[in-house]
Amino acid sequence: MMTIARYRVAGARSFSTASGVSTVGVIGLGLMGHGIAQAAAEKGYKVVAVELEERFLQGGLKRIGDSVKKITSKAVEKGKMDKAVGDAHIASTMARITATTDRGALASCDVIIEAVIENLQLKQTLYGEIGRVVKDSCIIASNTSSLSIGTMAGYCGRPAQMIGLHFFNPVQMMKLVEVVRTDQTDPKIFARAMEFSRSLDKTPVECIDTPGFIVNRLLVPYLTSAMLLVERGVATPADVDTAMKLGAGHPMGPMALADYVGLDTCLSIIGGWQSAFPDEPAFKVPESLRAKVAAGKLGRKTGEGFWKWDGDKLAA
Ligand code: CAA
Repeated sequence: MMTIARYRVAGARSFSTASGVSTVGVIGLGLMGHGIAQAAAEKGYKVVAVELEERFLQGGLKRIGDSVKKITSKAVEKGKMDKAVGDAHIASTMARITATTDRGALASCDVIIEAVIENLQLKQTLYGEIGRVVKDSCIIASNTSSLSIGTMAGYCGRPAQMIGLHFFNPVQMMKLVEVVRTDQTDPKIFARAMEFSRSLDKTPVECIDTPGFIVNRLLVPYLTSAMLLVERGVATPADVDTAMKLGAGHPMGPMALADYVGLDTCLSIIGGWQSAFPDEPAFKVPESLRAKVAAGKLGRKTGEGFWKWDGDKLAA
């Protein structure tokens, strides 16, 4: 039986080593990657954060710093943590992150989570490099939301080590991780990935390598159905969102959630599926979605989509 060692770190957090993980590599510090790096560092893991360019690294580190300060100051305000412990937690979290543009640094990692943009050409080159540098015991994970894990396994040439670890936005708050296996994934790698996800205080669910896994396969057609409903003049975006929040108990309505995810991301997912499965009616691409993306109105990240945004919040 495997022994589970637990380590205490500042902020009374702990992590388990049953997964055999002590160093986590995160490639890409954008919307998802910065949250994954933060979640791992806050739990006491050493993190190697890799970006293509220095300025992206600095942007990602700033985002992590702001978010960990926000979470910690809330905990201090609510009396859940002393100020001194909170300050030490912020400092130790940031100190655990090594930021680099050198992909060779991934050689020391026990798990690598790739969170770069959904561009297969870019991923092909990247996975080729990953395959050359990683340890034989390393869990190689992609945070892709809609691309095939099997394709990436082929690119890196290490299919037994390859899985999907799909986190949700905002990673700091969302409790789910979809753990995705292909026919060639080594069951031991899969079991370690499940344990690693639990050690981040997430709830993992198992899924096979299929378009959209569980959540996006259900969620993205729901978001685009809401857009099509608005296009048909059934209701306004505001009323659709109010209806789903108050009538179905969702934290955000679908129009706001599409903005929150990013309309370019929504279009890339549904457009890709429509091309691959042209007879599937659930994969119809709304014209309003195409138009917003063509106009550069990508949702929260550009300040406007179906709604206007003020930072992370809907504008008043
Ligand atoms: N860092 C730190 N804290 C954050 C944060 C971040 N990035 N984002 C939110 N928070 C914190 C806030 O500080 C706040 O903390 P307190 O409760 O202590 O005050 C808490 O989260 C709640 O935030 P808000 O008060 O701003 O607003 P809210 O109550 O509406 O919660 C939300 C925001 C968590 C985003 C919530 O609206 C929600 O759950 N929305 C749905 C999100 C969702 O469905 N995500 C999945 C998208 S799909 C996806 O990710 C998959 C894909 O591949 C496309």
